[in-house]
Amino acid sequence: MSKPHQPIYDVIGNGYARQRQADPRWQRQIHAAIGAADSLVNISAGAGSYEPENMRVVAVEPAATMIQQRPLGSAPVVQATAEQLPFPDKAFDVALAILTTHHWSDADQGLQEMRRVARRQVIVTWDADYFAKHFWLVRDYLPQVVAHEKGLATLNKVAAALNPQRIEPLLVPADCADGVFAAHWAKPAAYLNPEVRAAMSGLALIDDDVEAAAMRQLEQDLQDGTWQRNNAALTAQVEADLGYRIVIAESDASTLAKHA
Ligand SMILES: C[S@@+](CC[C@H](N)C(=O)[O-])C[C@H]1O[C@@H](n2cnc3c(N)ncnc32)[C@H](O)[C@@H]1O
Repeated sequence: MSKPHQPIYDVIGNGYARQRQADPRWQRQIHAAIGAADSLVNISAGAGSYEPENMRVVAVEPAATMIQQRPLGSAPVVQATAEQLPFPDKAFDVALAILTTHHWSDADQGLQEMRRVARRQVIVTWDADYFAKHFWLVRDYLPQVVAHEKGLATLNKVAAALNPQRIEPLLVPADCADGVFAAHWAKPAAYLNPEVRAAMSGLALIDDDVEAAAMRQLEQDLQDGTWQRNNAALTAQVEADLGYRIVIAESDASTLAKHA
């Protein structure tokens, strides 16, 4: 059965904050990527994961379902989209966007807006080719995800639209606290839980019957040991490179000198 065609976060937003907790190791690396700054705008802030507390922060988020899940006392939030940021030029030191550019209706416009309102940009996204080859759930059970990701604003588009200074791998710990799509690479049975899958936008556009068939296959492979045989190399790993990347970019040459 096809899934309803509605904005994804009206469908999967409920319960988001429960599944998508900040992971402390990701938090350290994202905060290091943000570096020294006085002000930050968190675009598509969701429930506010990874927002730093040692600077002035403004969150931008279009979905009321997500805004309602921001903890009490978190940074002020403006209900707006990335494509039309209601701020003057260079209003912030840093513009942050975590796992969201692929949702924007006009990602080029949103990325230009990030360049306009901040001197630096820090974006968490993923290398779609690397992800398709190295994440066993997509490679072996749900290759349909690859077709859905084609054309989305992931690493290639983000890097092309900005002025990247550094692109860092963001490894996924075996016990990752943040329930992103590849979080459970070391705990395959977790994917059999519909509540776990419900917060994953990578699955939101996959037909229910395709997803159900993939989960039946995964369950069988876990029971008869096929998954364990095919993924024996993973058991020795405490973290995995599954393609998540942090892009650290500067708006223009004059700001490069400032932060050198
Ligand atoms: C995967 S969530 C990420 C939330 C948060 N950055 C995090 O890492 O927890 C993607 C977010 O993008 C937001 N979003 C979707 N389209 C958007 C747009 N055009 N402009 C701004 N945000 C958008 C959704 O409402 C959702 O909150």
